[in-house]
Amino acid sequence: MPPDDSNSLVCRGTGIAIEAEADHVDPLIKGVPGYLRDVYRWAYLEPFALTVFDHQAMVSAILWGNYHRLARSVLEELHQGQRALQLASVYGPFSLQLLEALGPDGQLDVVEIAPVQIARCRRLLGDRPNVRVIQGDAAYPPEGAYDAVISFFLLHEVPEDYKTRIVDAALARVAPGGRVIFIDYHGPARLHPLRPIMAAVFALLEPFARILWTREIESYASESRGFRWHKRTFFGGLYQKVVAERIG
Ligand SMILES: C[S@@+](CC[C@H](N)C(=O)[O-])C[C@H]1O[C@@H](n2cnc3c(N)ncnc32)[C@H](O)[C@@H]1O
Repeated sequence: MPPDDSNSLVCRGTGIAIEAEADHVDPLIKGVPGYLRDVYRWAYLEPFALTVFDHQAMVSAILWGNYHRLARSVLEELHQGQRALQLASVYGPFSLQLLEALGPDGQLDVVEIAPVQIARCRRLLGDRPNVRVIQGDAAYPPEGAYDAVISFFLLHEVPEDYKTRIVDAALARVAPGGRVIFIDYHGPARLHPLRPIMAAVFALLEPFARILWTREIESYASESRGFRWHKRTFFGGLYQKVVAERIG
């Protein structure tokens, strides 16, 4: 069960009181974990965020021009006809690109928790029969055995305990021979010109990100045996791709 750090209304008062309270919950934050409400409301929970961020040019700019390279490095892990799970939606065309790589015989499930983002993702992907956009927490995705589980810039946005839950959940959902693919921030080289800028961005806006400069993604797994782990870095070390392949 997810922890009760959301604005969940269960287990408090009588049934009548719960319903009365539920009427007053802001629909934009209903069911959303505390860290997302407190830290990222401006980026994901308010409808105006889509106007600002949901553009290819903006996604590329935020990643210093590396979006295509990083997205491609995920797509090259996928094959037609596979079943994939995307943990959290991503601005821009990423989910559509995943779908294309999986082909008409593949299946894409996206698990996303923020109401505004769920609606956006459903609009993006339409009502294709091989897609499900599931309202839920990436730390507790639906049961299933996927050929690929993808976490694209999710880990740096969640607190430490959540990182462990998400990594464990991703590993638990991948079938033998399948892969979990994490793309995220990584510690840049000491003289990287963007190092001070990213340090300032993280200090101001992204309090859970900087730890990925020093802590390995593999170390968040409660049980990393049973997987072959590969890591590759990009752009002077600012980004990383970590693949955990379940030994079949
Ligand atoms: C994947 S991350 C960052 C992606 C990247 N910055 C971009 O361009 O969109 C952003 C998404 O993660 C979602 N998210 C955050 N925590 C989540 C959780 N525990 N479960 C599911 N979705 C979550 C947010 O609502 C948001 O839509």
